[in-house]
Amino acid sequence: MSAHIIDGREFSAKVKDTVAKQVAVLKDKYQVTPGLAVVLVGEDPASQVYVRNKNHSTVEAGMKSEEIKLPDTATEEEVLAVVNRLNEDDSIHGILVQLPLPDQIDETAVIDAISPEKDVDGFHVINTGRQAVGLPAMVPCTPRGCIMMLQDYLGDLSGLNAVVVGRSNIVGKPMASLLLEQSCTVTIAHSRTKDLPDVCRRADILVAAVGRPEMIKGDWVKPGATVIDVGINRIPKEDGKTRLVGDVEFETAKEVAGAITPVPGGVGPMTIACLLANTITAACRIHDVDEDGLLL
Ligand code: GUN
Repeated sequence: MSAHIIDGREFSAKVKDTVAKQVAVLKDKYQVTPGLAVVLVGEDPASQVYVRNKNHSTVEAGMKSEEIKLPDTATEEEVLAVVNRLNEDDSIHGILVQLPLPDQIDETAVIDAISPEKDVDGFHVINTGRQAVGLPAMVPCTPRGCIMMLQDYLGDLSGLNAVVVGRSNIVGKPMASLLLEQSCTVTIAHSRTKDLPDVCRRADILVAAVGRPEMIKGDWVKPGATVIDVGINRIPKEDGKTRLVGDVEFETAKEVAGAITPVPGGVGPMTIACLLANTITAACRIHDVDEDGLLL
């Protein structure tokens, strides 16, 4: 039997709808307009598309959106000056510096400079550390979106075997940490993992975040498992055009899995929705508003 397809577009529309309602309450009841600033350095085409989509979704939710573009020749000092200005700007609650940055700029130095309470990416070590020890933190958007989809589909995750393939700071490590917080038994697999197919076959929840097109095959998937595919890879087609595929071989995996996220239309749309949700969280914390009480 073919797997249930987890529709990230439909789910992200619901999250965005909730965010728009929260924005309306923040404006009406607390006179706060949540503001998100996105900084783009250089002309990377994929980054330009992401930033345009983020800007569009922010405005659509009723928030203030500020887009700052710097040339790819910008110095680290120039980027840090922008971040410092945004840290001081009371109309901005979330700051996102689009990665990757040009080689002359130290990404860690830039992330470190973002005020942790405005770090809607959740990349600052203060947020990473707070999340790891169970304190309130800003959580990276993609893993937050994955957990929301898993909880929506599976309910309680406790006791499930979760395998995360990939150990990046942006997805793999925070994903594993969030799954552990939900009381999963978590394995992080990576390029040096021995018998990777066997490790994957033990997973009730399999999260693929390696950045290798269609690496994870259907016979690596435990029957009935829930598969979350974080990969977005562009590969050539026979007609000379390109198509998007995930890190999972969808056609074979969907015949074995219980549920699976497609690419495109799975995790991707959830990331922007969670960025908006994180901006609400940041605005509430900065203005001392109870986020859980917003829609009551
Ligand atoms: N580039 C690719 N994904 C991301 C992300 O989630 N945040 C930022 N800042 N840059 C990215």
